[in-house]
Amino acid sequence: MEFNKVKYIKGEVTIPGDKSISHRAVMIGSIAKGTTEVTNFLQGADCLSTIECFQKMGIEITNNTNTVTIKGNGLHGLSKPTSLLDVGNSGTTTRLISGILVAQNFNVQLNGDASIQKRPMKRIIEPLSLMGASIKSIHGNDCAPLEITGSPLKAISYQSKVASAQVKSAILLAGLYADGITSVTEPYLSRNHSELMLNAYGANVTSTNTIGANVSSTNITATNATATITPVAELFAQKIEVPGDISSAANFIVAGLIVPNSEILIKNVGINPTRDGIIRVCQAMGANIEIMNKKQSGGETTADIFVKSSNLKGITISGEIIPTLIDEIPVIAVLACFAEGQTIIRDAAELKVKESNRIDTVSHNLKNMGADISPTEDGMIINGGKHLHGAIIESHLDHRIAMAFAIASLVSEDTTTINDAECVNISYPQFYNDLSRLSK
Ligand code: S3P
Repeated sequence: MEFNKVKYIKGEVTIPGDKSISHRAVMIGSIAKGTTEVTNFLQGADCLSTIECFQKMGIEITNNTNTVTIKGNGLHGLSKPTSLLDVGNSGTTTRLISGILVAQNFNVQLNGDASIQKRPMKRIIEPLSLMGASIKSIHGNDCAPLEITGSPLKAISYQSKVASAQVKSAILLAGLYADGITSVTEPYLSRNHSELMLNAYGANVTSTNTIGANVSSTNITATNATATITPVAELFAQKIEVPGDISSAANFIVAGLIVPNSEILIKNVGINPTRDGIIRVCQAMGANIEIMNKKQSGGETTADIFVKSSNLKGITISGEIIPTLIDEIPVIAVLACFAEGQTIIRDAAELKVKESNRIDTVSHNLKNMGADISPTEDGMIINGGKHLHGAIIESHLDHRIAMAFAIASLVSEDTTTINDAECVNISYPQFYNDLSRLSK
């Protein structure tokens, strides 16, 4: 798909539902008693994969445009699927569903696309196995396909090496079925949608942050965060209104800031503090960004975000803010190209195990557009101020790469061609329509 420089960006955009919250609404709704109604559900391919997996396990789920209805059968109401569960491209589906499957009374296999078959699953296999689960990588490479045989589970206290909401959520979901109190500690607090939603459904999850624990070999002082779950007899259906996805909104935030003479109002964005790092980064860079109309719903906060073209300065992004903006780093790297001075991104080695190796895919593609960027072991260093020009961009079928480079193209000379651009269907099917409507 081809993209060209625009004069400016102007208008309003309403952001589709949050991917993380949409997945969780289907999963938790399926194991709750009663009918869950989810509005503003994200109709992205990843969330549709989650719906299909639970339909295959006997859950009646109807999907009418943006309202999804789930007839949950309770904690023990799933049935053995007649075929393999297909998780598509979705790491969230794979890791979270595993936490539920390890506790069922049947055996199941799950698999997904070529990207999923390369993503690390040891991070869930290890803690779930400590709980007594039978979960194995069929090819013995710690990746999908996985074979899971439901078993009785023991409660554990687990220290995770990575700040990962997917790991934390898999353990908490398994903890719903364990014989006692299960806790998971991570080096920094990752997104807490599972904790909030489980509690809304009647679970008993508590969370703490303890400052000062030293969890890194390089002596970084980290903020440990622990989530603890005590099993309950049942969860109960809820009405869930999914906030707009800040990871999708991030693309328009950056577009509004870097395209000269632009103003955009981005409506209905989830600004949960475990997800709002992009806003804090923009503020620290000197952006014209205003947060308006804050509202609360189901433990999640939403707001409208107004951005205007800005003069930006480079900053260092590291430590506990990283998990709160991990999926936005590709587009933050684009932003940094338009800031004065140097931007350093550190402590973000997790980027290597996303839908693509995002340290490589961001650095390589930005370099091809003329940026001054150097990849590092755990991030990247960008010297802003170089003029970007069009190039052929390899998305590597990674939705966040395709979107970040569509934004870069708006301020680049000549034509930018993005290969496999349709991969945005994973998290934002109407992205290009919204972008072209705002582009002048
Ligand atoms: C997600 C957690 C993050 C994020 C992913 C969605 C979730 O992954 O990158 O897009 O919904 O829990 P990790 O848990 O691997 O950091």
